[in-house]
Parts: sequence; structure tokens; C-alpha cells
Amino acid sequence: MSTAPWYEEPSPGTGSLEPRAWFAASDARRLSLDGTWRFRLSPRADSEDTSFAASGYDASGWAEVAVPGHWVLQGHGSPAYTNVRYPFPVDPPRVPTENPTGDHLRTFDVPDAMSADGEVLLRFDGVESCARLWLNGTELGTFMGSRLPHEFEVGALLRPRGNVLAVRVHQWSAGSYLEDQDQWWMPGIFREVTLLHRPPGSVGDFFVHSPYDHRTGRGTLRVESAVPGRVLVPELGLDLATGGSALIPVEPWTAETPRLYAAELVTPGERVALRIGFRTVVVEDGLLKVNGRRILFRGVNRHEFHPETGRTLDLATMREDLVLMKRHNINAVRTSHYPPHPAFLELCDELGLWVIDECDLETHGFEEVGWRGNPVDDPRWTPALLDRAARMVERDKNHPSVVLWSLGNECGTGQGLSAMADWIRDRDPGRPIHYEGDRSCRDTDVYSRMYASQEETALIGRHEDTDGPGERARLPFLLCEYGHAMGNGPGGLTEYQDLFETYERCQGGFVWEWIDHGLAHPELGHAYGGDFGEELHDGNFVCDGLLFPDRTPSPGLVEYKKVIEPVRFAGDGTAGTLHITNCHDFRGLSHLAFDWSYEVEGKAVASGPLAVPDLAPGRSVELRLDPPPVADASREAYWTVRAVLAHDTPWAPRGHEVAWSQFPAVPRPALTPATGTVPVRQGHRVTLGPAAFDCRTGLLTELGGIPVDGPRLDVWRAPTDNDAGASWAPEEQYARRWRELGLDRMQHRRYGVELTNSHLVVRSRVAPAASDLALRVTYTWSADGERVRLTMSVTPEGPWTLPLPRLGVRMGLPGAYGQAEWFGAGPGEAYPDTRRAARLGRWNMPVDAMRTPYVRPQENGARAEVRWAELRDGQRGLRIEGDPEFWFTARRWTSEELAAARHLPDLVPGDRVWLNLDHGMHGIGSASCGPGVLTEYRLRAEKAEFGFVFGPLAVTR
Ligand code: GAL
Repeated sequence: MSTAPWYEEPSPGTGSLEPRAWFAASDARRLSLDGTWRFRLSPRADSEDTSFAASGYDASGWAEVAVPGHWVLQGHGSPAYTNVRYPFPVDPPRVPTENPTGDHLRTFDVPDAMSADGEVLLRFDGVESCARLWLNGTELGTFMGSRLPHEFEVGALLRPRGNVLAVRVHQWSAGSYLEDQDQWWMPGIFREVTLLHRPPGSVGDFFVHSPYDHRTGRGTLRVESAVPGRVLVPELGLDLATGGSALIPVEPWTAETPRLYAAELVTPGERVALRIGFRTVVVEDGLLKVNGRRILFRGVNRHEFHPETGRTLDLATMREDLVLMKRHNINAVRTSHYPPHPAFLELCDELGLWVIDECDLETHGFEEVGWRGNPVDDPRWTPALLDRAARMVERDKNHPSVVLWSLGNECGTGQGLSAMADWIRDRDPGRPIHYEGDRSCRDTDVYSRMYASQEETALIGRHEDTDGPGERARLPFLLCEYGHAMGNGPGGLTEYQDLFETYERCQGGFVWEWIDHGLAHPELGHAYGGDFGEELHDGNFVCDGLLFPDRTPSPGLVEYKKVIEPVRFAGDGTAGTLHITNCHDFRGLSHLAFDWSYEVEGKAVASGPLAVPDLAPGRSVELRLDPPPVADASREAYWTVRAVLAHDTPWAPRGHEVAWSQFPAVPRPALTPATGTVPVRQGHRVTLGPAAFDCRTGLLTELGGIPVDGPRLDVWRAPTDNDAGASWAPEEQYARRWRELGLDRMQHRRYGVELTNSHLVVRSRVAPAASDLALRVTYTWSADGERVRLTMSVTPEGPWTLPLPRLGVRMGLPGAYGQAEWFGAGPGEAYPDTRRAARLGRWNMPVDAMRTPYVRPQENGARAEVRWAELRDGQRGLRIEGDPEFWFTARRWTSEELAAARHLPDLVPGDRVWLNLDHGMHGIGSASCGPGVLTEYRLRAEKAEFGFVFGPLAVTR
């Protein structure tokens, strides 16, 4: 008979110390044990041989790994990605016999000062999934809870020189059942290992209580400390005994005004640096309030991720994340789905973000088995759950940025969650509790949902949702996940924001998610699920962030920034009125400077500052815009107004743009018609002004001497992840439905080519095999000598119900025409429901820069509302004017090539620049996980007429 090994017990481990408050700095010594460690990987966990832990063991033949780090990213084994499913049989608490096991070894000397009086602790900030430890051959204990700290007392075992620390890490443990987050499975000692000197009388656990009373403008300070001492806050003239309290006028902490007071906790043996923020979080009158006011989350879900180092992040990367968030108007982070590196929260305090700190807990894979055996509903696991709750709360309780505790993610329901909530409430009554997975809200102070549609969110906002509201009707509502940022998208963010700004109860949400988890790969660019030969995987569902893996903002982030901007402009550019609203929750506008410019066809002809009063939050003002004397009524003109930072901040320099808007002043003049030239036929060739056609096919072959693949009707786009939709919503799986209908293989049947003395008219019927649905198309060409005009008339035939991916023409130019300029929205891509961030202007960039590098290639790069576009080869060029405006896409591969590619390196430029000039474009939506394209953004197959005027450009500008 064999007993279960320790790592197959639901209990959290043995030998570690009680959790306590984290702090960044003190005068006690610490020794980092990070660096290069000896490493040996075994395919199984059942080796009884622990001789490697003894002093004198010769590990010189072992490999080496960097600690902190994941061994699977250092050439030992491979990462694996699953979303919901466990990559092993569901047999809790047992795990596979094939359980990769990493033995880690390092030797170190201890500075004399450290081995003086007092204690020495060995601290692990994060090990996936469990560890067993030995120091100098003596076993210290074991632990689970990958993203949580564990400390061991080791002083008695230390010697000055040649200490041997041995750590055996198993990839799988009972703890893995509690860590089924949607991310890569990546074992290893992935956060720091530190030796901490604890001098006699040094600081133990401590709890800073610093509520703020907005009615009196005072804060209370009281620090509970296991070791008595004093709290010094020089700026407030405070020298307070621990346990005592002071009531003093202070400036409060908010995410908008992250006011921190430098302080020290001084005990007989240590001085710990603190930064104290005064603020009070309550749920009151059905609203989540900070310092007496309703707050609005403009949030993101953040996993810890780096394309090279996985969940091992350095401080610079953490700061970069937060700086990028602040620069994009994001004011909140949910630490999905585990407590982040502790320093991250310190940075949130400093830079100002509301944080939902989430416990390292997800058991989603039990849903696959009808939730049978779910640990959160099995009392044998409750100690492990409580251990996780305590390790999070004790570590992070002193951060003003943390405003909600979250019990975990997607664990179903059960008594273990209630036990966690009870414990947390008792320990920290000062923070409300969040959990999304239990609609009864029995353990929570907020009603939270993920991916509720705009329609349902509106019902919730109005208290009209019928799904048994009960108790939860009195709770504030938030979307802990929405706007699934997978691939191109998410669409429909504006509609959510409107609801958050309309219904008091809807206090915002957190876009899923911050960054694509694409792992750097030598051949594939960035790898996703399946790229490591996993038996089970969920493909590129792991790439669903607002940042690309290398932290370049995606168009989704740029769009989100615009949608959530904290200052709103409305107005009438023709009447010259401008309405400005301050949408901050706490701040006035004095930190911003405002300016205007008057632009004529993309060129600013006048500009100046705008005097805006320092409005209180929620207040508006009406101003006048006077057209400058330079106004030219024959060309399109508009106003651009902006709010920029008036001063440098820790996250962006003065001048950084926070909000903007544009208002038309003079409408676009109508295009002059291009007619009058008589077509000339020579054999199969017809010339019409600058254009030449093959009259057998009716196709344009040459334009001003440039060989072209003539424009033809095109309705296909390389499906986006949102077009593909999700398995649970077949209706929204447009990519499949489009393909079933055959929109990816339309046949063009010519019905006739007709030549009159002013026009070339080509009629065709565009339809897929096996269907009687079709689009009847008439191409009508005319010219005025210099320019040639195409008028497209499209009439659907048959009972179309599916929206079209796009409706326009596709044409090819020689590859040399690689420089684009346009007047329209830009500089980035836009689609009907991701259209807010693109601004009207004149943009110039190489075709190669017009693509958006989604990790899994898909439709991208369209520019909206383009009035005209030009493509040049250095000398000559082609100009295209739209009637009306069009969607402009230029790339070096076809939609078919784009659709076939799995990774970016699959896309190889051909000898053509392919243009899509679209009259209509289907929206993007968020159906990869969430609602599909809203009705108003669906591209219905209906009668349409649109045109383009083409003209060669002779001279280089
Ligand atoms: C949610 C889950 C996230 C992620 C997301 C889809 O259900 O909480 O972890 O899986 O869906 O990307």
C-alpha cells in the first residue's frame, strides 16, 4: 500500500510561517538568491531520491536555469495552453504520474551581519505549482499556491559559507486543480527567492488603517502592529504609537489623485518605509463609493505576461504596463486571476489605479464534468482555500489602491467560497468583496458579470433584469470582464460606455484582457496554443489582449482610450458651439490644457489655446468656436479640439493627449463628374481617358500606364476571431456561415460588356457555387480625359439573410506602389464599431505600415471614411477619390492568403499591392467571447450604389 505523496493532498503544505504584510523597503538586510541555479528535470515526480539536497552533492553535471523563471521557457520541456480544460484527467486531488519535476539547487554564503542576532527567513514570492525545500540537507517544508508568498524560518540552519538550498518543484499538484486559469501552464520558481534578516524587535505583521471622511476632510490613521512601535508621518507632523490613532486633515488618495504620505513604521529592531493613502471604500445606497462618491471603472484585466519570460516580470515591465494604462485613460485593474507580483500594487498606489485584487483560485475545468468534485464545494479543500485568501489579504492589505477583494474566478459555487468571504470580511471589513461566478451574490458586495451584452447591461442598469434579481438588485453592478480583445476588436465598446455613463448602478467594467500571451518563437513570431504540440489546447484564445505580446498597443487599446476619455466634447462646428463635460470622478480640469485647431483637408490652418474653466466632476460648460478668417469654403474643413496634460506627470509628459474631438465646419464638396470622353476600341482593347480595358472581360487593365488588376466586386474578408465566434453561440459564427454559403469563393459571371459613346458598362452576376443567392453588379465607366469614374450598382438576388463581410471592389497594383497617402480617418485601422479613435486627417505611410500584426493573421488595416487615397511608386502614382467616402485597405497579400496564414511569418509579400475599396464593412463585435455585432453595424446585403474616380498622378511631390 502506498500513501498519497504530499503534493496530492488538498492541504496547502507544511512548515511555512503565518502570512504577513508585504513591504518594499526597510533597513533590515536582505539577500537575493535570484540568479543562475543548477537544474535537473525528471519526467516523473515519484523519485524517492532526495540525495541532491545534501551538502556536498555534486550537481556539476546538471543544467542551469535562471531563477526567477519558468523552466519550460528555458529549453526544458514545453509550455502548454488550455483555457478551461485541465490538461490531465479530472481525478482530484491526484495528478498524473508523468509529472515533470524540476530539482533546483543553489549554494550561497551569508554576510556576517545577517547571521548576527535575530531570525532569518527564506521567502518565495511565487513557485508553480508546488515546492519541497531543504536547506543544508534539512527539510524545511512544502507549499502550494503558485502566485502567493511563502516564508520559512531558516536562521538555525544557516552557516556563513557554502549553504545549499534545494527546491523540488512539481509541475502538477493538488494545487493545480485550484489554478485552472486561462493561460499557459508554466512551472518553475517564477518570482524572487530572498533571504530576509529579521533583527530582534523587527517588524512583524502590521495593518495600516487609514480611512478618509469626505465630510470633514480628515483621515484617521491607526496602525496595528504585531510588534509595538511608532508610526512617523513627517509631512503630517505625526509620531504615533502603533495601536493608537490620530484624526488629521489630509488630502485623500484616489486613482485620479494618488496622494501618498511617506511614513515609517519603527520598531526596536527595524524601520520600514510606508506610503500611506487615506481613502474609504463602501457600498452604500446601492453604489460602490470611494470617499463618498460613486466611481466608474475604466478597467482592464491584467495577467502577468512577458513574451520571453512568461509570468516572470521585472519592475520595469510592471511600470511599463501601468504607464501604458494611465496613458490610455485606464483607471482600474483586475489582477486576473491571482495576486500579482507584490511590487505591482506598490506601483498602483503610486501611479493611481483602482485595483480588484483577485485570489489565486480557479476551478473552471470542473464545469466540463458537471462540477462534480469541485474543490470549492468540498470541505476537504476549505483549508487550502482559506490559506489562499489569507496569503493574499495579509500580503496586500496595506495598499490604498486595492479597493475590492475578489475570491477568485470561475469556480462555480460552494461553501468554500463562503468560508473565504467570511474570513476576509472579518479580517478586513474595510473592503467590499467581489466574485463573479455566483449569481446569487450571497458572498459578495457587488453584482459582477462577464460578457453580458449591451442589452442586458441596460436592463440591469434599469433594475429590469428578470433573472431572479432578489438581494442582488440592491448591489452595484460591474462587468469584471467585457470587450473580449481577441484579434481585431473588440467592437461595441462605445455602447457599453454610454450605459455606464447613463445608469448609476453600472459602475463600469474591465476589458478582457490587457496583453496577448503570445510566446516569442524563433520561427512563428509569437506562439500560441498548439504550437508546442500540446495534446489538448485552445489555440490562439490565449492572444486576446489590448497589447500585442511585445507590448505595442493594438488598435483595440487606442479605441478604448478614446471611448473612456474622461473629458467629453460635443458641439456643432458649423454653429461654432462647443460643450465640454468633465467626466472625472474626483478631479477638476486644472491639470489639463485645452487647444483647438481649424483644419482644411487635413492641414491645420489656424490653432490656439482654448480657455476652459476648472469644472467640478460631472459639470459642463458651453464655449464658442469662431471660424478663423482663413476659412476656405470650397474645401472640407473641421475643428479639432483637445485636452492635454498641462504638466509632466509620473506617467506622461506635459502635452500628452487625454481627450479630443472633431466637428465638421465646412462639408466636403461634391466630386466633379468625370464624363465627356469617348471610348476608343482597338481590337480587344478599349481606352477611356487614362484607362484601358479588355472588352472581352470588361476588366480595367491599365490606368495612366500603370498595369492594374481591374477592380472587381469583393465581399470576402479573412475572418477575424470575432467573426469566428464562440462554440456556444453558433448564430454568431459568421466565419463558418459565410464559408458555408460560399462567400469566400464567389464566381463572377459576366453577362455583358456594352460600349456607348460615353460609357463602358459591364454587367455581371457574382455568386457562389451551389447557391441561387447572388449579387447583380453593374460597373459603369466614364472619363473626362484626366480621370476615369467607376459607378458600381449592386443588387442582391434571392433571400439573403446573412450579412456580408464587406462590400466593395478589390484591385491590384504593381508592388512598387508601396507608399500610401489618404485624407480620411487614421492613422490606425477602424471598423464600423471600432471607429472612435480614428481621426480625420491627412495620413502618409508605407503600405507595409498599414497592416495590424494580429498574432493570428486576420482581416485588418481598413481605414475609415477615406475621401481620397493615393499610391505612389516614387515617381508615378494613382489617385482614388470616393463617392461617397470609402473604407481603404492596402496590403501585399490577398484576403485568401491572409485567411490561410496561421502566424505572421506565413504572410509573404507578393508582387502586387492589393487594394480593397469598400463601400460597406461588417462590424467587428466581440463574439469570440461575448456579444456579436450590434444590429446597426451589420452589413446587410441590400441594394447599393457607390463610385470611385481614378486618376494617374504624374509628378512626384
Ligand atoms: C473568461 C475567463 C477569462 C478568459 C476569458 C476568455 O471566462 O474568466 O479567464 O478565459 O473568459 O478569454
